[in-house]
Amino acid sequence: MNSLASPSHELVFDHIADALVDKGYLILNDGLPEALTSALFQRINHLNDEDFRRAGVGREQDQHLNSRIRQDQIRWLEHSDVSESAYLHWMDSLREGINRRLFMGLFDYECHFAHYAPGAFYKRHLDAFRGQTNRVLTTVFYLNPQWQQSDGGELVIYPEAGDHPIERVAPAAGTLVVFLSDRFPHEVLPAKADRFSIAGWFRVNASIGNQIDPPR
Ligand code: OGA
Ligand code: MN
Repeated sequence: MNSLASPSHELVFDHIADALVDKGYLILNDGLPEALTSALFQRINHLNDEDFRRAGVGREQDQHLNSRIRQDQIRWLEHSDVSESAYLHWMDSLREGINRRLFMGLFDYECHFAHYAPGAFYKRHLDAFRGQTNRVLTTVFYLNPQWQQSDGGELVIYPEAGDHPIERVAPAAGTLVVFLSDRFPHEVLPAKADRFSIAGWFRVNASIGNQIDPPR
C-alpha cells in the first residue's frame, strides 16, 4: 500500500465527504502531511515574480476591470516539480476518495499557486455558475507559516443567499478549505503580509455533465 492510500488518508477523506454531504463545505486544519505543506511553501518562495502572471476574471480581457475584482498573481502547478507533483497526487487520491464515497463523478483537478501582495484582494465571487461550468468542487490550501490574526487576509465565506458571513478563515499554513463551487460566494480580504495559497477545482467531464446520460 503506498502512503497516499494509507488508513489516515482514508479517515481524512471520510471526514471531507461527510462534511460535504452535511453542509457543503469544510475547513480542515491539518489534513495534509506537514512536510508537504512546508515543501510547497519553499517552492513558492523560490519561484520568481516572472513565473507568475496576473490572474484574470472569466473571459474578461479588460485588465483595469480585472484589477478592481482580483489582484492576485498566479501560477499553475505542474508535475515537473516534486512538491507540486506530490500535491497533485494527494488531490487525485482525494478525487478518487470522494468519487468512491459520493459518486460525484469528479473527472480531473487543476490548481494554481496564488500570491496576494500586501493590500491585494479578491472581491466576493462564485467559482462556478450552476450549469455553466464543469468546476464542481473548490479547494483552497494555505501555505503561510506564523500567520498572525493582525495580518488580515481572511477568506470570508457567505451562505448561498445573504450577506452575513458563515466563516472567516485565516490563511495559516496547513489549512484546507473545500466547498461546492456553485454554492458559496466568498472573498479574500486584503492582508498586511504576502499571502500564499493554492486554489484548485475538481471538474466533471463536460461531455458527461452536459450531453450524455450517464449509465444507471
Ligand atoms: C479563488 C479564490 C481564495 C484564496 O482563487 O477563486 O477564491 O483564499 N481564492 O486564495
Ligand atoms: Mn474563488
